[in-house]
Amino acid sequence: MCRVHSQIPAVCSSSGGTVGRILIVDGDASVRGSLRLLLEAGGFEVHVAASPREALERVVKATPDVVLLDAAVSQGPRADFLRELHRRAPMAPVVLLTGAGGVEAQGHRHLPKPIDPQELQRALDALIVPHVGELVGASPTMREIERLVVRLARSPASTVLITGESGTGKNLLASVLHRASRRADEPFMNITCSALPESLLDSELFGHERGAFTDARERKIGLLERAKGGTVFLDEIGEMSPALQGKMLRFIEEKTFRRVGGHEDIRADVRVVAATHRNLEDACRMGTFREDLFYRLAVLTVHVPPLRERTEDIEPLVRSFMNRFAEDFGKRVLDIEPEALARLAAQPWPGNVRQLRNLVERAVLLADDAVLRVRDFRERDRKRPSGSWPLPDEGIDLEELEKDLVRQALVRSRGNRSEAGRLLGLNRDQVRYRIQKFGLE
Ligand SMILES: Nc1ncnc2c1ncn2[C@@H]1O[C@H](COP(=O)(O)OP(=O)(O)OP(=O)(O)O)[C@@H](O)[C@H]1O
Ligand SMILES: [Mg+2]
Repeated sequence: MCRVHSQIPAVCSSSGGTVGRILIVDGDASVRGSLRLLLEAGGFEVHVAASPREALERVVKATPDVVLLDAAVSQGPRADFLRELHRRAPMAPVVLLTGAGGVEAQGHRHLPKPIDPQELQRALDALIVPHVGELVGASPTMREIERLVVRLARSPASTVLITGESGTGKNLLASVLHRASRRADEPFMNITCSALPESLLDSELFGHERGAFTDARERKIGLLERAKGGTVFLDEIGEMSPALQGKMLRFIEEKTFRRVGGHEDIRADVRVVAATHRNLEDACRMGTFREDLFYRLAVLTVHVPPLRERTEDIEPLVRSFMNRFAEDFGKRVLDIEPEALARLAAQPWPGNVRQLRNLVERAVLLADDAVLRVRDFRERDRKRPSGSWPLPDEGIDLEELEKDLVRQALVRSRGNRSEAGRLLGLNRDQVRYRIQKFGLE
């Protein structure tokens, strides 16, 4: 127990005072007691309940940040109980404590009993530090990343480097890092270094003085100044020119910079989060990236491995995208068949999480059932059918089919009528006509 006690405070009680409120619902007094000790030592305010009835009574006053719920307690009419609990404490996520053998319940975190203090600490960190829960995943890697994000979000560190292949979640991570940090109320400025020529990027970042160059008719305040107190996210930093890399390095080390054409040193407290899909060590060797900047950035690196190296993340990602898109599209899609999941888990995912997300989005659109099936995930490798759709024996409702296809095209094009038209072989006016006709606005 002592070993355990000394672990929790290290991470949880850095902010002083209570670090969060927990409601424990467990029929076993010894479990309640030991969890209480553990959590109180970690700085949490703890409330306990021995039954669902008691839990419903307590939950309104206690306003817990998290409910730890023994899965056995909630058996029987569990759905009703959970619904009522959620109604009374809509902000509190539930973590199910499962006994031997485990009880499957979708949509909730699980912790197997006996509770591993480190696992408990990780789950609570992710749930209580805001937004960290947006990082979906179940692999040890993802857990490690969550822990790192929690620590970085609370630390005063002024730079973070995020590396990983395209689509692994670097942008998401940068945004979570900002929103989970003390800088959350200050600006988050995002710039893609590969999107601008060097001189433009220079004045976007650092600003310029009036007359600094021919077109500089007014003074311009750059991102670093506008982001004061917040975070600047430098995406694709591997594409930044060596000269700008030098200016960034100076800014990171001295916290000061000059506007283009300016002579005054300007101070700005900004966290720099940089991301790249390139191997910066290779780039250093090839002379395209400055070693000094690389070593400065590499001090705090979060590497997000490709999805194929963390296949345990696939199922939770699929389920979370499935729920999100089902809600977006107003479709009742609740589950995925095991065979479909197994096939997804076996794919190489060169486009990583983004590719998986797009595939799930399409599957939810195609699903004609509450369960996603293998056929819903078939890649579009067939040519566009033209002229010969096999008409099913039982016939179809042409009007309904047309309406559904137009709706799908609009959803996929995010409401862009020209783009929807391209998918349907129609022009914009024809799309507009059908939107009115089917009442799809
Ligand atoms: N762990 C995750 N949990 C939930 N969603 C994720 C996760 N990782 C990635 N995503 C989602 O996958 C998509 C791609 O992620 P993101 O844009 O952050 O990738 P990226 O690494 O920045 O890609 P690129 O290198 O192409 O810019 C986004 O919709 C993002 O929200
Ligand atoms: Mg990105």
